[in-house]
Amino acid sequence: MKNRMMKKFLCTAAAALTAAMPVGTAHAADAVVGDMNGDGSVTISDSVIMRRYLHGVLDIDSDSFLAGDINNDGSVDSLDLAGLKYIIFSNSGRMPVGAWAILGTGEDYFYFDGDGNVTVTHTYNTTAGTVTENKVTVEGNKLIITGEDENREYTISWVNSKRFDMIENGRKRIPVVYYGSQPLVYDRLLNGTWISDSGREYDITGINGYYSELGAETTENFSYEKDLNKLIFHFDSENLNDGVNAYITAVDSMHIDLTWEDGTVERLTSRNYEVIDGVTYINGILIANKTYSLPSDYAPNGILPEAQAAFNEMQAAARRDGLSLEICSGYRSYAYQRDLYNSYVNRDGKAKADTYSARPGHSEHQTGLAMDINWAGDAFNNTPEAKWIAAHCAEYGFIIRYPQGKQDITGYKYESWHVRYLGKELAGEVTDSGLTLEEFLGIDSVYKY
Ligand code: DAL
Ligand code: ZN
Repeated sequence: MKNRMMKKFLCTAAAALTAAMPVGTAHAADAVVGDMNGDGSVTISDSVIMRRYLHGVLDIDSDSFLAGDINNDGSVDSLDLAGLKYIIFSNSGRMPVGAWAILGTGEDYFYFDGDGNVTVTHTYNTTAGTVTENKVTVEGNKLIITGEDENREYTISWVNSKRFDMIENGRKRIPVVYYGSQPLVYDRLLNGTWISDSGREYDITGINGYYSELGAETTENFSYEKDLNKLIFHFDSENLNDGVNAYITAVDSMHIDLTWEDGTVERLTSRNYEVIDGVTYINGILIANKTYSLPSDYAPNGILPEAQAAFNEMQAAARRDGLSLEICSGYRSYAYQRDLYNSYVNRDGKAKADTYSARPGHSEHQTGLAMDINWAGDAFNNTPEAKWIAAHCAEYGFIIRYPQGKQDITGYKYESWHVRYLGKELAGEVTDSGLTLEEFLGIDSVYKY
């Protein structure tokens, strides 16, 4: 059923697009998009040719022109150069991490996890679910969808860094746009309470909800449908034709802008998001990561007593199993973290340092709730102590904060030695979910500077 849906909408999207597309110069039937030098593959040499052509130092023939007109708009320009860069990128068999939605339908999107895995999420009619019948793989610049009754191969044609087109049979173009770094941004809209800066509270459950003017007694019911970039609100839920559009833009993981048809913009803040004295709490959980920082004067000056007591309990249990656990780095002040981070930048450069060391104000060590155990380095991985911690830390209220293979989500490479105290109940829930803390809370971890 679900895969049929997907097939249906792909066809619809393609048909709608064919009608809507401006007619440009058709690619030559046998031209490989981007193959400027006609050698059958798209490589860096093709981008050198295009660059020289754009600089006016090289003439190209019509075949080369057609291959270079990547966005099929009748010219070869800087947009095509950007597109070419992404073809070369995707020829490496990898796709940029994030969610990508088929434009104009809002029904399905792909999530590329950076390890070659693709999840297709089906959001048709607001009922979210993962299409398991269809498998999506990327091979070179081909996107291959296979399933019970679906067997299609699309060529990926990059238009710019935020858009690629899926080309079927070299003709139909299905535009796919970048939709955010997280797989389930939309679904956070389905449930929860949102406070707007214009004094409304939206309480959304499934496809229904109500909103109230803050402080007022009365509430209005509404239902909504969602499309790629908009919510269609039906304030009279009896009459589904009585819809008002609000276009949504995700500002960050906890804020959304609703732009109404009359042009007014309401900024919605998730009620689960609170900032107290500069410290961010999500669902009441203090959070420090690349997105959410701590003020420089936030200084508990040590591991918080509850976390220390939990560690002591864990240490005693490990000792009974014949293993020794010691905190090798616990609380770190803003200034200490700044010096530590700077020393890593001097040694390894900023880009590399950012994969394993937090910038000042962004380290969990400043919270007094995180600690490194025994040895903060890859040599600790797979030791009996690391295995014991992975198996048991949740029983004492800790999680492995930066799990293996989740660097794109947590922002940091695997740290088998770094645990974060959450309390037994929550640590158990997060661990059982198999999610990182970011995924569990529906937030991201990305520097904005
Ligand atoms: N190593 C972790 C990410 C920190 O610097 O806080
Ligand atoms: Zn640490």
